Amino acid sequence: MSLDGAEFPCTVRDRVTNLLCYEPVGEVMGMDGRPRTATEVRARKGGPPLVMVTAYDAPSARTVDAAGADIILVGDSVAMVVLGYDDTLEVTIDDMARHVAAVHRAKPGALIVGDLPWLSYHGSHDRTLDNVARLVRAGAGAVKLEGGAKRLDTVRAILDAEVPVMGHLGLTPQSLHALGGFKVQGQELNAAKILVDDARALVDAGVFALVLECVPDAVARTITDEVSVPTIGIGAGRHVDGQVLVWHDLLGFSGADRPQPRFVRQYAQLEKVATTALGRFCADVRAGTYPSSKETYHLADRVLAAFAAETDTSVSSV
Ligand code: KIV
Repeated sequence: MSLDGAEFPCTVRDRVTNLLCYEPVGEVMGMDGRPRTATEVRARKGGPPLVMVTAYDAPSARTVDAAGADIILVGDSVAMVVLGYDDTLEVTIDDMARHVAAVHRAKPGALIVGDLPWLSYHGSHDRTLDNVARLVRAGAGAVKLEGGAKRLDTVRAILDAEVPVMGHLGLTPQSLHALGGFKVQGQELNAAKILVDDARALVDAGVFALVLECVPDAVARTITDEVSVPTIGIGAGRHVDGQVLVWHDLLGFSGADRPQPRFVRQYAQLEKVATTALGRFCADVRAGTYPSSKETYHLADRVLAAFAAETDTSVSSV
């Protein structure tokens, strides 16, 4: 790819890895219609609904990307759905950077958003920017943080460092203890008005998109109508600019007996499929039917004969 080689258009990854390759943003996005950057996600306001799905490692990133999602969120939900914790407060910036890097190694076409974990952006701006840098260097094209009015200075500081920020309002799981549990937010008049004010303030501060988690549909609709950036809902009804679900929830991999929130639609029951497949493996090993001859490496006959003679055994291939 070079300026005189005329092999355009290039992808964003090409642009990052090959400084000779420049292309106007609009022409790059056109390749499969998916937004590649935060700027392109922002420009989708009022367009076709955005699809965001979480992923935490290379295989989940591959499946989400191959399915055509617009954005891969490496969410701090990794704490609960992958690492088995009861809440998201347990993951650190080291954990998040490792998972962002794993997703990035799958080389997805979708924009990778890295979640800033609890306490990674609540102290000094210097410390916040160090943590943002960890995620960006691991492969994130943007970061997400939770909270409204309290976070405006932090959002501005990250934007000053040229990193796009996605906001997150409503049920913000990092505030679990302050909120008194995983509960629908904005159900009373005052709380609903605060959510609308917070959304406006975050957008004024410069976020490129806004996650609305577990809020009544009327509140989500008002915010969506009021703000100039896409809203991406999870448990926020239909009147938003896009939807996000957690990989394990939508694929039925979050514990057979775990009650699911009402907004989760399971498109498969992969945990059942995996358990059945693993059960067949256990049975085959115990019955001696795994591995078969075809699943085994054999010595060539002439080597086998010499080997048997040398070792004074009568080993045969099956
Ligand atoms: O961590 C996460 O998966 C999230 C989504 C639920 C929006 O923040």
